[in-house]
Amino acid sequence: MSFHTRKPMIAGNWKLNKTIREAIEFVTLLKRRLSDPQSVDVVVCPPYTALSDVAEILTESEIGLGAQDLYWEEKGAFTGEVSGVMLKEAGADFVIIGHSERRQFFHETNDTVNKKTKAALKSNLTPIVCIGETLGERESGKTFQVIETQIKGGFLNFSREEIKKLIIAYEPVWAIGTGKVATPQQAEEVHAFIRKELAKDFGEETALGLRILYGGSVKPDNISNLMAEADIDGALVGGASLEANTFLDIVKSASMAI
Ligand code: 13P
Repeated sequence: MSFHTRKPMIAGNWKLNKTIREAIEFVTLLKRRLSDPQSVDVVVCPPYTALSDVAEILTESEIGLGAQDLYWEEKGAFTGEVSGVMLKEAGADFVIIGHSERRQFFHETNDTVNKKTKAALKSNLTPIVCIGETLGERESGKTFQVIETQIKGGFLNFSREEIKKLIIAYEPVWAIGTGKVATPQQAEEVHAFIRKELAKDFGEETALGLRILYGGSVKPDNISNLMAEADIDGALVGGASLEANTFLDIVKSASMAI
């Protein structure tokens, strides 16, 4: 029998929020309040513009820094895009890939997720790869089929070693920004399925070591019940990550739930 210790993670996805000034103010407070070592990993993902300033404040702190997207080419004529090398240089260690808003509004597919995830790994960034079904897909009984396709396509031609470096976020689209959180049982059912699917393709050892975060209307009062489930290793938080005290309350509840 082997034991797997997956350190939980609480990551804040700020989306299109906070100017550089607001970001600096937020992380300065966060750093002060999280000065002791935490039993959960804490990560913030500001917009690109704030990355370097936030990185500077977070040096000598345990708080991790992530970007919200990247492009798979390193350089070239791709107006508006940002590469992994650039993000790394700006101070990021993580990058969110394939968020449902990117899939929905910017036409990202499992194929682009695949390319972006490969590119992130090449730049030594830890990808936080988002998957999840829409309300229509859930209601027509297609949840597991959608998740399976996202995994198969997103991680096509990946090696076990590459998969081991990922973090996955299960974000049911119907729970994002709606205040309608998945029940712990609904979330756990899909998390366990994701782990099982990955075990099939990349081995049980790989799947058991992988952190799978839940995302979708996570708040201070629902994080503990979610974290109590065996396959839920933390959360990717949107709206509730924007206010320092609320975010800190989520971190605190998550630490106590371990
Ligand atoms: P909310 O927490 O605002 O529902 O957003 C979740 C999310 O999309 C995190 O990536």
